[in-house]
Amino acid sequence: ERYGVIMAGGGGTRFWPLSRTSTPKQFLNITGEDTMINDTIKRIKDLIPPERILIVTNKAQEKMLKQVVSDEIPQENILLEPVSRNTAACIAYASLVIKKRSGDAVMGVFPSDHYIKNTHEFQRVLNAAFSLAENSEKMITMGITPTFPSTGYGYINFDREKSIQAENKTAYEVIEFVEKPDVPKAKAYIESGNYLWNSGMFVWKTSVILSSFERFLPRLYNKLAEVEEYIDTPKEKEVIEKVYPTLPDISIDYGIMERAVDVAVIPGDFGWSDVGSWDSLGTVIPPDENGNITRGDYVDIGTRNSIIYSSGRLIATVGLEDMIVVETCDAILVCPKKKAQEVKKVVEQLKKMG
Ligand code: GDD
Ligand code: MG
Repeated sequence: ERYGVIMAGGGGTRFWPLSRTSTPKQFLNITGEDTMINDTIKRIKDLIPPERILIVTNKAQEKMLKQVVSDEIPQENILLEPVSRNTAACIAYASLVIKKRSGDAVMGVFPSDHYIKNTHEFQRVLNAAFSLAENSEKMITMGITPTFPSTGYGYINFDREKSIQAENKTAYEVIEFVEKPDVPKAKAYIESGNYLWNSGMFVWKTSVILSSFERFLPRLYNKLAEVEEYIDTPKEKEVIEKVYPTLPDISIDYGIMERAVDVAVIPGDFGWSDVGSWDSLGTVIPPDENGNITRGDYVDIGTRNSIIYSSGRLIATVGLEDMIVVETCDAILVCPKKKAQEVKKVVEQLKKMG
């Protein structure tokens, strides 16, 4: 059986003031269609029925999640983490739930806050990934052709000589997985032409990922294994609340993917963007003839290459260039585009101020 696990517990602080602790990026409608999490569900629903889609989120986001996500996802498929312990814990918990419900199934793991332009092509790649995972013991990643030396992604070094046919797609054996390299390394990887970006989506058998946890993150595995017998019983919540805070805080990329041996990648050309910060909006919404991306009421006199985002009030800009202006009911952001990554520091500062 095929399962889907949507990871929806992240913060998304670089989209402040639109994103807040109470409303992280996955719950926003940034691209103009639906919330990012609902877009994620819609994308995978043709391949995985809602009864087998699990959503893992933070307890603090439970209310928000239930408000935005349609009730075709059963209540018992919403897994609540009492505290955030990063993606390794999130995936291990979901894997144990799937094991308990269905034994050795195959599962796809999906971030909840990414944009994908070409759903059909994405589904073809996902289908190939499922089929390869069903017929092997491999951990399957989906690779994106890198376009600039980003230090925010994982890089996948693949072997062109070692291809594997999966449905109508070609997968390659992975030589090395490197999470968030520094700039010189990222540059070298791009120049080599043998690296892809990790899209953050994974497909594998529950038995394969669980034995990787046992091998590479034994402390996390052993602690969560205590929970196993209580899954889907009235005691699950209590046991999770006790065990979760003791789990190591590590991502699946550092914890498992960098160390795993039997990894394959399927290159995917489906118009992927993780819409990580305000300046990346241009990869998702086409700019107008002046290079501006605008939302809501605005008046502009000679503004270029800027992002003007109003949630209610009229924004007027005169002669701005390469700037970001975002208005919400209780906050305003003004920031040069090239400093967009630093917006998360505003959130840190605000936290310190209490
Ligand atoms: N439930 C839950 N709990 N979800 C979480 C948690 C958690 O503690 N932490 C993060 N998530 C969710 C986020 O909401 C997001 O959807 C996804 O897991 C990935 O986490 P990020 O924190 O956004 O990871 P990243 O962007 O730094 O890196 C990952 O994604 C890149 C592509 O965007 C890595 O997989 C990289 O290798 C990859 O290139
Ligand atoms: Mg991310």
